[in-house]
Amino acid sequence: MTDQARGARYATLAIVLHWTIAALIVLQIILAGRMEGRTPEAFAVVQFHKSIGITVLLLSLVRLAWRLLHPPPPEPETLARWERTLSTGVHWAFYVVMIGMPLTGWIMVSTSRIVLPTLLFGTIPWPHVPGLAELAPAVKTPWHDLSQAAHHLIIKGAYVLIALHVAGALKHQLFRRDEPVLSRMAPGAVSGRWWEPRLLVIAAGVAAVIAFGRLYQPPHPAMAALPPPPPVEDVADSPVAVGSGPALVVAPTPAGPVKWVVSPGSTLGFATSWSGEAIQGRFDKWTADILFSPAALDASKLSVAIDLTSVKTGDEQRDASLPSGDWFDVAEHPKATFTATRFTQTAEGRFVAHGKLTLRGVSRPLDLPFRLKITGDTASVSGVTTLDRTAFGVGQGEWQSTDSIPAKVTVTVALKARRR
Ligand code: HEM
Ligand code: HEM
Repeated sequence: MTDQARGARYATLAIVLHWTIAALIVLQIILAGRMEGRTPEAFAVVQFHKSIGITVLLLSLVRLAWRLLHPPPPEPETLARWERTLSTGVHWAFYVVMIGMPLTGWIMVSTSRIVLPTLLFGTIPWPHVPGLAELAPAVKTPWHDLSQAAHHLIIKGAYVLIALHVAGALKHQLFRRDEPVLSRMAPGAVSGRWWEPRLLVIAAGVAAVIAFGRLYQPPHPAMAALPPPPPVEDVADSPVAVGSGPALVVAPTPAGPVKWVVSPGSTLGFATSWSGEAIQGRFDKWTADILFSPAALDASKLSVAIDLTSVKTGDEQRDASLPSGDWFDVAEHPKATFTATRFTQTAEGRFVAHGKLTLRGVSRPLDLPFRLKITGDTASVSGVTTLDRTAFGVGQGEWQSTDSIPAKVTVTVALKARRR
């Protein structure tokens, strides 16, 4: 063996990239085993898998460019021809894995039925594969199915490659004193030494990555993140801000019902849970036509139109999926409406609006009990009711099941209005 081959090793950049990418691929395989199910934890693991996968893609492109510009160090001359051919073949096939796995994963998520935005590590926006996300469903689905099949197939090939690669490295390390191979990637390794410290470090590193992949739970959004609501849409109608001006005297209630204009700061919210984690949501765009007087309940009327695309739950991924066909289906039914023409009084300042909610094209009776306080020209209303999301088809496919998201959704209204 020449001295050149004895001391031969890859350049530091190639070595760092080799071990980093190897560790991340092992991590990806472990994470993939935790992505099943409809829990917030599993969703967060998918997001993390996507982030690590894109990182592997970028690192592998750097590594490929480097490799094309720099020939590998000379191999031990005594290597059999079949060993050279096999190891070179495995190395190039690894490039197919390192680039093919992330690419097929990226195509898969860009063409899924519900296209969710990707935020790498929860912060860096990552686009979909240009042109694919916008395709019609009939064209998109084959792309999705094909990339998914490829993602599953390439990883099977990778298992074979990893077995061959590690077996080759170990064979030369343990049984071929005169053919140093491990030292090419782990400088200083002495071939023929069984208790080679670098070998132990590699084994410990793999064990640590596996443990991390099994135990680490990427964060999922806490509901405290829900930002304060913007003003409702029809505030332009409201000339005076709530609370301004001198204290108002209780005005006598006129005989007919009064038209009320919703003031800024009014909210229309809902509450549910996902695998036991409380979720608070809100619609930021809605309008209300209110004709109401406690003294003229028979002639009172209420009509609310809710823009379902304006849903906010404190998590961008979730907010992007709620308008889809699985949930509100805004492509077919952009608005939900609540109309009530019958009102009853249950106690002093307490009423029930007996109305009808139309959501996803399904109309069902819905009672909204509320408290009302009128001070001068200002009315404050707070109401709470519950509805069964499954009766409206909110949650299709696997989301119909109520084991992780209950059927019952609590709806809350906190409204301030001014007399027209
Ligand atoms: C999924 C994990 C792995 C991948 C994707 C991978 C990929 C590669 C690739 C592509 C090369 C060629 C050099 C280059 O182009 O930079 C290489 C070389 C090498 N790898 Fe790995 N590797 C992995 C895991 C391992 C492990 C666990 C070991 C050790 C037990 C190892 C030991 C080596 C050695 C010794 C070389 C130099 C071989 C030579 O040039 O003759 N690799 N690896
Ligand atoms: C080095 C990169 C990657 C590796 C090694 C990897 C590995 C895996 C593995 C082993 C599975 C499970 C497959 C099975 O059940 O047979 C999987 C599934 C999945 N991967 Fe990746 N992945 C990588 C990159 C990506 C990227 C970049 C994305 C998206 C941007 C992605 C998205 C997914 C999704 C959504 C699934 C589950 C979908 C399904 O199986 O139907 N992966 N991945």
